[in-house]
Amino acid sequence: MPEPHHLFLRACLNLPTERTPVWIMRQAGRYLPEYMSIRQQAGDFLNLCKNPELATQVTLQPIDRFGLDAAILFSDILVVPEAMGMGLSFGSGEGPLLEPPIRNRSDLERLHPFDPEQELDYVMETIRTIRKRLDDRVPLIGFSGSPWTLATYMVEGGSSKNFSRIKGMMYDQPELLNGLLNRLVEAVTRYLNAQIRHGVQAVQIFDTWGGVLGHREFLEFSLANMQKIVAGLDKTGPDGLPVPVILFAKGCGAHLEAMAASGCHVVGLDWTTDIGEARQRVQGRVALQGNLDPAVLYASPERIRQEAARVLTAYGPHPGLIFNLGHGIAPDCHPEKVASLVQAVQGFQHESRHP
Ligand code: CP3
Repeated sequence: MPEPHHLFLRACLNLPTERTPVWIMRQAGRYLPEYMSIRQQAGDFLNLCKNPELATQVTLQPIDRFGLDAAILFSDILVVPEAMGMGLSFGSGEGPLLEPPIRNRSDLERLHPFDPEQELDYVMETIRTIRKRLDDRVPLIGFSGSPWTLATYMVEGGSSKNFSRIKGMMYDQPELLNGLLNRLVEAVTRYLNAQIRHGVQAVQIFDTWGGVLGHREFLEFSLANMQKIVAGLDKTGPDGLPVPVILFAKGCGAHLEAMAASGCHVVGLDWTTDIGEARQRVQGRVALQGNLDPAVLYASPERIRQEAARVLTAYGPHPGLIFNLGHGIAPDCHPEKVASLVQAVQGFQHESRHP
C-alpha cells in the first residue's frame, strides 16, 4: 500500500516522522474570536454546522492561525441522532437537548435507519468544500460519537451527571439498550464510510462517556460496539491511502490494552494516564494520541512549554505519537496559549538527537 507523506497520517500508522504532529480537540470553537463572529453570522451553532461554506471557514480558522498538522471537520456528534428522527437543540447554558428521549421499545421503533448521503448531505458537502479549500496542506479528520456515548444523550435526553436512566436500562433491560446500540453501530459505520468516500483522510470515534462504565460494562456495551464499527470501515480512501481509525475514550486508561486490540490504528488518551507507561503497555501495536491536561493552557507560556516537553519526553523518540490535549479546549482559553503550545510541540527536539 502507498505511504502517506503528511506527518499526522504517518504518525497514525506508526511510520517515522521528522517531528511530532499536533492537532487539538475542539480546535475550532468559542475561544476564537473569529469563530464567534462566524457563529453570529450563522445565527446559532446548529445552523453553522448545517452551512457548508461557514463550517468550512471555521474548520480552517485554527489551521490558518496556528499551523496545526491536521484539520477536523466542524460538526457535532449529535447530528446523527437528529438524522435518526430526534429533535436536537442547544439550549444556552444547559448543553444539548435531544427530545423525546428513548425510554422504551416504541421510542426505539420510532427511530429511522438513515442514509448519511441524504439526511447528512450537508456534512458531505462540508467535507468536499474543506478538502478543496485545504488543497492538501494538512489532512482532514472526520469523526463520530461512539454508540455508547450517543446512546447516553439519546436516553438521558441531553447531558447527564449520573447517567441514571441509561445505567438503569443497562442493568434492567439490556436487550432494549442493545437494540439501540445495534442501530447506532449500523448508523455510525455508514456515516463514517460516507465521510471517507467524500474525502476525510482519518476518522476519530469519540467515546466521551466510556469512562463512566465499569470494566466489564465498558467492554460489553462500549468497546465491543466500537470494534464492530472498526471492522466495518473502508480502511482505504478514494486516493488509495490507508484511512487510520482513532479511538478516543475519555477516562478509559484502565482499558488501554483492550482498546489497542480493537483493530484501531490509534488510541487517544486523556491526561490521567502516563503516556510513557501507556506506550509500554501497547508495545507498538497502535500509535498513541494525547495527552496534555487541557487546564495546562491556563498556565504561563513557559510552563506550557515545560509540560508539553514532559509529554514528548515521556513518550520518547519513537514513531507513533500524535500530540493533542487529553480533551477539548475550554471556551475561556486564550488563543495565545494555544499558539505557545503548538510552537513548543513543533519546535521540540529529543535530547538524544542533539549529541
Ligand atoms: O474538535 C473540533 O474542533 C471539531 C468540532 C466538534 C464539536 N463537537 C464542535 C462543538 C467535535 C469533534 C464535537 C464532538 C462532540 N460533541 C462531542 C465529543 C467530544 C467531546 O467534547 O467530548 C460531544 C460529547 C458533543 C456534544 C456537545 N456538543 C456538547 C456536550 C456541547 C457543549 C454544549 C455547550 O454549550 O458547551 C456541544 C456543542 C459544541 N460542539 C460546540 C462546538 C464548537 C460549542 C457550540 C457553540 O458554539 O456554542
